[in-house]
Amino acid sequence: MSKIEIQNLTVNYKEKNHRFTALKDVSFSVESGEFVSVIGSSGCGKSTLLSILEGINSPTKGDIVIDGKPVTGTGTDRGVVFQHYSLFPWMTARKNVEFGVKQVKKNVPKTVRYKIADEFLDKVGLENFKNKYPSQLSGGMQQRVAIARALAMDTDILLMDEPFGAIDAKNRTILQELLLELWEGDGTQEKKTVVFVTHDIDEAILLSDRIVMMSPSPGRVVKEITVPFTRPRNRSELVQTPAYADFRNELLSLFYSDIGNKIGGNEVVL
Ligand SMILES: Nc1ncnc2c1ncn2[C@@H]1O[C@H](COP(=O)(O)OP(=O)(O)OP(=O)(O)O)[C@@H](O)[C@H]1O
Ligand SMILES: [Mg+2]
Repeated sequence: MSKIEIQNLTVNYKEKNHRFTALKDVSFSVESGEFVSVIGSSGCGKSTLLSILEGINSPTKGDIVIDGKPVTGTGTDRGVVFQHYSLFPWMTARKNVEFGVKQVKKNVPKTVRYKIADEFLDKVGLENFKNKYPSQLSGGMQQRVAIARALAMDTDILLMDEPFGAIDAKNRTILQELLLELWEGDGTQEKKTVVFVTHDIDEAILLSDRIVMMSPSPGRVVKEITVPFTRPRNRSELVQTPAYADFRNELLSLFYSDIGNKIGGNEVVL
């Protein structure tokens, strides 16, 4: 049994007198401890898929099964980084992270929660911004707080929707490495299961065990591809190998193969 099973997922959105099919018959599985990236062009339903995995949205058809149980709502087994900043504006960066920790570790004393929040805000480079409110932080900094919160929650499953999209190149590199370091751990703990949405092919290759390529109108899986490179991966060595260029080209041609599909072709008049 896989950790996450996505079975024949179809999601229709109703808009006035139209029904819009955002996802159609999407099926794939994620094994325990696996790092899977979902790639596809804008509008192919990646965030919709993640919202169903989170349990904040329900499918029109199909099921999500986690640890053998159908998902019927949100759960403390899943830490989430949303595509758009999702911090409580009335809480400082530290309080936002502490709040996340409290959701999953109810019995942890306040002093320990404080320490965990401190540690993860340090890790994402916000040591001097812990007592700032979201409105006092840049977009990229707010996203780093959201990442610190998800990592500090230390859940079995991490669902990340373009978490580094709004972050500058230097911090993105640091955060990609931090995520890999936390995911790989010291070998004594079970690895987290990660579903990671990105537009960035190089990011997906660097981070993932497997890549699920999606195509729009309606959103569906076109291919699941295993990343053939051994770990740990060294970014600069990896990108210089001919095998990397070949693999990247293969992904790029799949990524662009949906161009020419008629946009809006999946609209149905009710
Ligand atoms: N609440 C909603 N009501 C109606 N349509 C929606 C809703 N949410 C998303 N959609 C539509 O569903 C499709 C998929 O949207 P989604 O946000 O899942 O795409 P995405 O792959 O995450 O795109 P991006 O890469 O730009 O973030 C889009 O065409 C979008 O307009
Ligand atoms: Mg999205």
